[in-house]
Amino acid sequence: MRIVVTGGAGYIGSVCVELLCDSGHEVLVIDNLGEGHRAAVDPRASLEVMDLKEPERLSDVLNSHGSEAVIHYAADTLVGESVSNPAKYYRNNLVGGLNLLEAMVASKVAKIVVSSTCATYGAPDKIPIDEGCSQSPVSPYGHSKLAFEGMLGCFARAHGIDPVIFRYFNAAGASKNFGEDHRVETHLIPVILSVALGERECVEVFGTDYDTSDGSAVRDYVHVGDLAEVHRRAVEGKVTGAFNLGTGQGHSVREVIEVCREVTGHDIPVKESPRRKGDPPVLVASNEKAASALGWCPATNLREIVVSAWEWHRAHPQGYGD
Ligand SMILES: NC(=O)c1ccc[n+]([C@@H]2O[C@H](COP(=O)([O-])OP(=O)(O)OC[C@H]3O[C@@H](n4cnc5c(N)ncnc54)[C@H](O)[C@@H]3O)[C@@H](O)[C@H]2O)c1
Repeated sequence: MRIVVTGGAGYIGSVCVELLCDSGHEVLVIDNLGEGHRAAVDPRASLEVMDLKEPERLSDVLNSHGSEAVIHYAADTLVGESVSNPAKYYRNNLVGGLNLLEAMVASKVAKIVVSSTCATYGAPDKIPIDEGCSQSPVSPYGHSKLAFEGMLGCFARAHGIDPVIFRYFNAAGASKNFGEDHRVETHLIPVILSVALGERECVEVFGTDYDTSDGSAVRDYVHVGDLAEVHRRAVEGKVTGAFNLGTGQGHSVREVIEVCREVTGHDIPVKESPRRKGDPPVLVASNEKAASALGWCPATNLREIVVSAWEWHRAHPQGYGD
């Protein structure tokens, strides 16, 4: 298939592009390289450096590529920044997404697979979180993602687009060639590993008095390779709808630090800090819907996730070096 991947120079997109190329698809990456990296684009894919906020160019690119499907990763993703600068998040995640949908309609591309997030659920009403739980985001980032889900539903009904919405929990780990190199890193595992690499003195644990087994917050870590695989299935198949993507297993912050200690052999000092506003105690997915509709079962456990991330970071101590 000819597949456009927006945000394919970013963390999760880069691993998916690699798998799509392995599977024989013809991939065009659209990325403004604001957060992404040229070196994160698999050399078998083409790269169009452009912004989704350039609507005319977007239609031209989709038309001339003869695209049959779009996988849409491109977004601004920092929860904290979204609180201080909500306009940036609505403009990029909503207006950029609107331009993409309009370009798809103009170019008669009917299939889209979209990255959404467990942040659309806010503080969930039950654990594990299934797709029927109410969506009440607490951050502008989560609101912008939920608003895009709603807009996509309207386009699907009006224009016959077949949408798949994937709400990821905590993406983590690396493939051999592509890993996590955010310019501002807020994700737990790369932050912990940067301590082991000597780039930070300690890791901060936000909240040690939650009602969890060890007082730290519990999250569901899912390997990027497992995410890539379910995107491949979705783009090649006929399923539509919204699906949570997690392992169904929760791990506390302290537990993740302990696994990182075992894998790296480093002490990894900890600084205990107060809870961050809006951080729920536990976020764990029910992945039953994705399992039954897409036959997807994440294959990678926490230790394997950390091993893959550690191997990538040791091989790329400067990340992609740009
Ligand atoms: N990382 C996670 O744990 C996680 C969890 C839930 C959801 N998500 C979602 O998954 C997607 C990918 O996340 P990631 O961690 O790989 O982020 P990332 O920042 O590494 O990748 C996003 C990519 O999109 C590009 N981009 C952003 N705005 C653009 C625009 N207007 N035009 C062109 N390119 C643009 C960036 O340059 C970057 O390469 C995002 O939509 C994010 O909201 C991620």
